[in-house]
Amino acid sequence: MKKNLIVANWKMNLSLKDSKNRAREFATSITQLSERFKKNLPHIVICPSFSALSAVHTSVRATRGLVKVGSQDCFWDPQGAFTGEESPVFLRELGVEYIIVGHSERRMYLGETHDMIEKKIHSFVKEHTLIPILCVGEKKEDRASAKRTQVISRQILSAISSIRKHKPARPLVIAYEPVWAIGTGNPCTARDCARVNSLIKKILSSYLGTAYTAEWCRIIYGGSVSAKNIRDFVVEGISEGALVGGASLQAREFFHLIRSLL
Ligand code: PGA
Repeated sequence: MKKNLIVANWKMNLSLKDSKNRAREFATSITQLSERFKKNLPHIVICPSFSALSAVHTSVRATRGLVKVGSQDCFWDPQGAFTGEESPVFLRELGVEYIIVGHSERRMYLGETHDMIEKKIHSFVKEHTLIPILCVGEKKEDRASAKRTQVISRQILSAISSIRKHKPARPLVIAYEPVWAIGTGNPCTARDCARVNSLIKKILSSYLGTAYTAEWCRIIYGGSVSAKNIRDFVVEGISEGALVGGASLQAREFFHLIRSLL
C-alpha cells in the first residue's frame, strides 16, 4: 500500500525567519516521533515561499528525508528570458522535490491557464523529475449548477494531455481542492470527497490506463483540513493524503495533524 502524502502549503504567509523557525521546530518533533512510528509516518512535504526554500531545506535536513521540500510554483522552461520566474533546474538545486501546479489562487489571481498548467506538468514529469501536485476543483457556482464533473474533467484532461501518449514512469499527485472549501473552515464532506476522487480515478484510468494510475498517481484532498477532520479524508478508499494550508502554519498544529493519523 502507498504511504499517505501530507503537504503543507504555507502560501505567502511566513517570513524567512518564521519559516526557518517553524520548519526547525516541526523537524525536531517529527524526528522524535519517528523513533516510535517511522514505518507509519506519511510522506511529508513543506512548501514555503521561494525566498525561504533554501533555509527550510536546511532546517529539515536533520529528518533524513522524512520531511521534504516543495515549491508553490515553478516555470516550465529550465532557463531563459523569463523575468521573475523560477526554473525547475534551479529549484532542484535547492533540494526541491515537489511542485504545486495550478493552485486555484494562481488560476484566479495570476491568470494561470490550462495551457500553462499543461506545459508545467509536461516539463516536471518528463524532463525534470519533479513531482507535480496538480490542483483541481470547482468553484461555488459550478457546484451549485452541477458543473463539477465537467470542470474537473477539463482541468485534468488539459493538464495531462501531453503525457498521455508517452506515459513517463514518474509520480503524479492530483489534489482535489474545491475552491469554496479553501480557507473557509468549511471542508467538503468525506462522502462528497470520495465521490470526486472516484471520478478523478476514472478519468486518469481511462486516459493513462488502470495499471499506470494505480502505480504512479495519487489523489489527495485539500480545503480546510485540520487535525480534527483529517481522519475523515485520509483513510483508505477516500484520499491518499492532504494539502493543508492554514493548519500547517504553526509547527505544533501541523505536528498534531500528522500525529492524529498514526
Ligand atoms: P486551507 O488551504 O487548508 O487553508 O483551506 C488549502 C490550500 O489552499 O491548499
